[in-house]
Amino acid sequence: MKLSTKEFDAMQMGWRKWYIEKMELKTFKKFGLSIKGLDILEVGCGSGYAASLLTAEQPNSYTGLDIMPEQLEIARGRNLPGACFVAGSAEDLSRFPDGSFDAVLDFCILHHVEGWRSFFDACHRVLRDGGSIYAADLSKRCIHIVDALLHWGHAEEALFTFKEFETEANRRGFATVHKTSDLGLEGYFRFDKR
Ligand SMILES: C[S@@+](CC[C@H](N)C(=O)[O-])C[C@H]1O[C@@H](n2cnc3c(N)ncnc32)[C@H](O)[C@@H]1O
Repeated sequence: MKLSTKEFDAMQMGWRKWYIEKMELKTFKKFGLSIKGLDILEVGCGSGYAASLLTAEQPNSYTGLDIMPEQLEIARGRNLPGACFVAGSAEDLSRFPDGSFDAVLDFCILHHVEGWRSFFDACHRVLRDGGSIYAADLSKRCIHIVDALLHWGHAEEALFTFKEFETEANRRGFATVHKTSDLGLEGYFRFDKR
């Protein structure tokens, strides 16, 4: 789902890049992510903040996928060497061949995706054996607080508890390797393809 204007504007601010670097990517690295030499897919890449950090660490390839043309235009404008940005939805990865990635990364986007359950099926197909999903995402409780305070306007159908999130990943062929959460608001997960 496209972002509201308020959320879109908030996502362009410097705090977002700082938070990705200092919290989300740092946690993924603690969970074992080592970017160099990997084929990486980032779903919901937004304006390319994470892309700028990831491409600096010499992946074999970096692909950023997002549903909003406005976000992709900003991301492409960064002219990141080796980065490829494509339009599409995280729940439909059919444009990518089987086994084309080593890791799929989610920096806070699946709470926008009504078909987040299908995302796990799609990842299972596009990941190589031994591949992983690294997800940093927000719980239903967190989004209710955000929307009460900031009126960003999320769709209820896309929201999940962390229990529901993990259960769906496990049911759809992934083992939980690491998980942690800050006060039940933002959760971090590493799921490996079984
Ligand atoms: C909260 S923003 C986060 C953007 C970026 N990951 C970041 O951390 O700055 C959520 C992003 O997900 C994108 N998005 C929403 N629904 C999507 C979908 N079904 N598939 C792919 N991207 C989607 C939005 O366009 C937006 O760029």
